Amino acid sequence: MGLEFISNPSLSKRTSLRLGGTAEVEVVVRDKQDLDALSNFLLKETLRPFVIGEGSNLLAQDGQLDVALIRTETPPGPERVEKNDDTLIVRCGAGQRLPGLLGWAQMAGLSGLEGLTGIPGSVGGCVAMNAGSYGTEIGDLVTRVRLWAPGQGLIWLDRDQCEFSYRHFSPAIAMGKCLIWEVEMALSEADPKKVRKTMQENYEKKKSTQPVTARTAGCVFKNPEGHSAGRLLDKVGMKGARLGDMLFSDIHANFLVNKGKGTSSAALELIEMGRIAVKEQFDVNLELEVII
Ligand code: EPU
Repeated sequence: MGLEFISNPSLSKRTSLRLGGTAEVEVVVRDKQDLDALSNFLLKETLRPFVIGEGSNLLAQDGQLDVALIRTETPPGPERVEKNDDTLIVRCGAGQRLPGLLGWAQMAGLSGLEGLTGIPGSVGGCVAMNAGSYGTEIGDLVTRVRLWAPGQGLIWLDRDQCEFSYRHFSPAIAMGKCLIWEVEMALSEADPKKVRKTMQENYEKKKSTQPVTARTAGCVFKNPEGHSAGRLLDKVGMKGARLGDMLFSDIHANFLVNKGKGTSSAALELIEMGRIAVKEQFDVNLELEVII
């Protein structure tokens, strides 16, 4: 089919916080054959490329943005590629959704991903930020990552060529601006019923502590060393703080919620209020987790 170009894509339709203006163009990559054309586009284009994934960790700005969104709808879906004793290597395209991968793992009786229950986003996006919850970070499971960069093509990186830390991933070799094409992970064989039960329990726990069904971008700030950003924001009274349709969640103070017509400027104002209050009362600097 070739690369698809969409003019003036709306960021509010492409982000889970349902915010933001319009990018110049969106380029949809569907298979490996599209990568040469993407390379030509990026080498000529002056717009800033931005790999959007499922847009679930993004606070997109209002207005017209000089950005070319890159989205991969990458086959294949998850598949088993190798087995050593009880460990299975699973390969998954970066454009697949993490909840879909978890559903597949549950049906296939594969354990390892249960802690990531309730995290939206694409598999590539989750690797790019080393998403994590309940003691599991996706980087813990990754055995290889296949990256693509214009002019360099597709390159498999082994685990020791990947640097993962708290909400951070970077390839240990120079790739410049690259996109994640596919990922391999080590999972272990388990009873599908047990995997399902753990996922259900984690989802229930998340539902009672986080606004999982609301329009959010996940946690706004990273947890500072030794603290919970949510607890600090709660203590300084940010829970429920509201500007128009944008507010800090009543359930968990580190989530911004868009009640409908929230704007990016209101979100940024709330972020500043929270950051300043925490600095003044606790002398702790909050660092953003969401990408602006
Ligand atoms: N707390 C409050 N008030 C709040 C929120 C939290 O007092 O408004 C308290 C809780 O009662 C608890 C402590 O703070 O005692 C920690 O809260 P929680 O267990 O909800 O964990 P968290 O540190 O706020 C982190 C991750 C989440 C992840 C959960 C579960 C970050 C920034 N947050 O939250 O990840 O789901 O642990 O593992 O690392 C994300 O990264 O987007 C995210 C949601």
